[in-house]
Amino acid sequence: MPTPNIRTLLASTSPQQDITVQGWVRTRRDSKACTFISLNDGSCLRELQVVADHTLPCADLYPKILTGASVRVTGDLVASPGAKQSYEVLAKNVELLGEADGTYPLQKKGHTPEFLRSISHLRPRTNLLSSVFRVRSRMAFAIHQFFQEQDFFYVHTPIITASDCEGAGEMFRVTTLPQGSNAKPDQDFFGKPAYLTVSGQLQGETFACALSRIYTFGPTFRAENSNTARHAAEFWMIEPEMAFFDLDADMTLAEQNVKYLIQKLFETCSEELEFFNKFIDKDLITRLQHTLEKPFQRISYTDAVEVLLKSGKQFEYPVAWGENLQSEHERFLAEEHFKSPVTVFNYPKTLKPFYMRQNDDGKTVAAMDVLVPGIGEIIGGSQREERLDLLEAAMAHHGLDPEGYRWYADLRRYGSVPHAGYGMGFERFLMFATGVSNIRDVIPFARTPGHADF
Ligand code: 4AD
Ligand code: MG
Repeated sequence: MPTPNIRTLLASTSPQQDITVQGWVRTRRDSKACTFISLNDGSCLRELQVVADHTLPCADLYPKILTGASVRVTGDLVASPGAKQSYEVLAKNVELLGEADGTYPLQKKGHTPEFLRSISHLRPRTNLLSSVFRVRSRMAFAIHQFFQEQDFFYVHTPIITASDCEGAGEMFRVTTLPQGSNAKPDQDFFGKPAYLTVSGQLQGETFACALSRIYTFGPTFRAENSNTARHAAEFWMIEPEMAFFDLDADMTLAEQNVKYLIQKLFETCSEELEFFNKFIDKDLITRLQHTLEKPFQRISYTDAVEVLLKSGKQFEYPVAWGENLQSEHERFLAEEHFKSPVTVFNYPKTLKPFYMRQNDDGKTVAAMDVLVPGIGEIIGGSQREERLDLLEAAMAHHGLDPEGYRWYADLRRYGSVPHAGYGMGFERFLMFATGVSNIRDVIPFARTPGHADF
């Protein structure tokens, strides 16, 4: 039987004799008669206080129990006289499992995010990062719940692929390392070009056109050399794909998806939310509550451009029909104009990839982006072009080799159906859910230009 973790012990409804608790030391304080050790094991934010009497045989160890050390304590769980905690442990024995000396970088004080990024191997031991990663885990689970409850099947799409879904030329190439000193470097994947996937969508579509409702949830890669707070070279994406869905149904599912996750966040991460609200963003809980309560606004791209032009605001990048919405424009719409998440739909076809369904106006495609305050785009999706002739024309227009995408066109050749899907950036969602303003702090080991050390 594993020993109970600190979260379970602190949730006890009665005192308990002879328990064992293990964790890392946050602080140690000595008084005349006893030593107080604050322990955390990452199972929750809270620390469990251990009271260790100086008359115990293990007392000569206490001076070695420094911040960062790991210990195993046996003793009795008793109601604590202190106001800070419900229970504490009266130790009968303290074992020092692993020492930490004064060079341990996480002494009990505030640390900047930049410093913590330089010690990604130790930062999960801080309150902030451990909270973020508990939330990340619970939200990953909730994503599966959301889809599985609605008869979606989880499909594992490949990481290595020859197709460039987004057509933006932002792919990392896969090469094989030469073996032996005389080996010729091979620039390809066993003789053929291959890349790390930017999106599982195209393969996801093949499964939606067989199992009706599917989702992928895995790592995706973008070789864009952009150093911003919301771009990473490796990020996780949730990509549902649904047969018999149009754009409207797609937008509705995306909204339900975000709301479901936030509901689960309130249910499963309340302690962490309080912490983020106190230390990271004092409007977080209010903003998340509004997101749950209010319907997401919907506006066409054309109307959104009008709103931006009429706003009287000086933007760094120009606003004009046919131009991409930049982060500042997206944030203006969500933060200042609608003051809530907003879904922008029907973008100019010149701005979007080949697979999006052309609208009857001939100028726009059935695309949609969900924009949220503080971040901008967290979801991008569309109804897919299900008409073979229009798809082939779009592929030719984008300069795609028809042979390479024949399998994709086959989905339109045999039993084509209207279908739609979207991709939600998991890290972007986590930034929205936690108030953490930099993508590097919501992923365990951030991969951004120049950072892939371990
Ligand atoms: O808008 P994107 O590029 O759409 C696609 O890849 C589609 N194939 C998805 C689909 O329809 N199945 O990316 C989708 C989302 C964005 O809205 C954003 O949240 C996130 O992925 N994203 C990134 N997150 C972090 N770093 C990056 N470099 C990102 N690029 C996109
Ligand atoms: Mg996008």
